[in-house]
Amino acid sequence: MSETNPALVLDSVSVEFGKGKRRLRAVSEVSLEVHPGKTVAIVGESGSGKSTVARAMSGLVPLSGGSVTLLGEDFTTPRRKQRRHIQMVFQDPFSSLDPSSTVGNSLAEPLQVHERMSRQDRATRIAGLLASVGLPVDAAERYPHEFSGGQRQRIAIARAIATNPEVLLLDEAVSALDVSTQNQILVLLNSLQEQHGLAYVFISHNLGVVRWLADETVVMYMGHIVERGPTERVHSEPAHPYTQALVSAMPVADPTGREKRQRILLAGEPPNQFDEPHGCIFSTRCPMVTDICRNVVPTSVPLAGGGTAACHLLTESVEARRPAPRQPLLTSEIS
Ligand SMILES: Nc1ncnc2c1ncn2[C@@H]1O[C@H](COP(=O)(O)OP(=O)(O)OP(=O)(O)O)[C@@H](O)[C@H]1O
Ligand SMILES: [Mg+2]
Repeated sequence: MSETNPALVLDSVSVEFGKGKRRLRAVSEVSLEVHPGKTVAIVGESGSGKSTVARAMSGLVPLSGGSVTLLGEDFTTPRRKQRRHIQMVFQDPFSSLDPSSTVGNSLAEPLQVHERMSRQDRATRIAGLLASVGLPVDAAERYPHEFSGGQRQRIAIARAIATNPEVLLLDEAVSALDVSTQNQILVLLNSLQEQHGLAYVFISHNLGVVRWLADETVVMYMGHIVERGPTERVHSEPAHPYTQALVSAMPVADPTGREKRQRILLAGEPPNQFDEPHGCIFSTRCPMVTDICRNVVPTSVPLAGGGTAACHLLTESVEARRPAPRQPLLTSEIS
């Protein structure tokens, strides 16, 4: 429970693409909340539905089920004036920056769409935005190709915060950058979050970055959330076999070797998304699969360290911890 109202709520959101036999459920009944000043990370391998969740959150793709609430108002079919409250930053800043437009004009565009401002006020606001992302004022006169990858990502962030949004969706926003540039952008994102109380949804393949930045981590596999919880718990005590495999693939920066762990290799590729497995979505690749996994969909089990995971092994261990029912007395003892 959190004392703030969530900035963004997804309630059982599903997204489907295609029709008939070629229908694919990219996102299956995903629920989550993002609070002001907090970061929720979404992790999972390629094709697990992370970007589709982000697009569903920002109203860029129609839902086949569920609802989205932004700042307490329905955002399932967004109204234009709501859009300023939620903005996206992508891996490739070129997708959001027009190469033929000066940086100043790129930053002015969202201001023109969402606010009525005099030219002078707009110029002041653009200078302020550039300063807040660590760029000089004269950057406004230049073109995107004149900047490095890190600087371009700063421009994309400035553009995203131009309308004073409450929620930022960061889809692999630092993934294309070298490690030291990545770190600088992460520090910038952290300080912008503190200053403005921004809610972040941070999508990344890099669990090290997620562990550093995110308050909560959500793990997706084939469109489903298989585990979620406080970041530290998810990374140090992953409960779902899929999360365990993801975490085990991370290089360990621990010279003492205390955190040494076995790398878990998953057999095969994810199953065909047009034909989802019966039972547990992960059953075709799980190293610990049993019969029940192939036949029955597991429910989410609350975990001691916080959060939940959907795995029969966990349900079984919860069952095992329940006190055994009292044995009936034997007749010989009664007599
Ligand atoms: N517009 C679309 N039309 C049809 N299928 C789509 C569309 N967008 C995504 N998909 C499919 O939905 C599934 C989820 O894709 P998505 O891009 O959300 O995954 P992702 O987790 O973001 O992957 P990555 O890590 O590679 O970015 C994939 O099977 C993808 O092929
Ligand atoms: Mg993606």
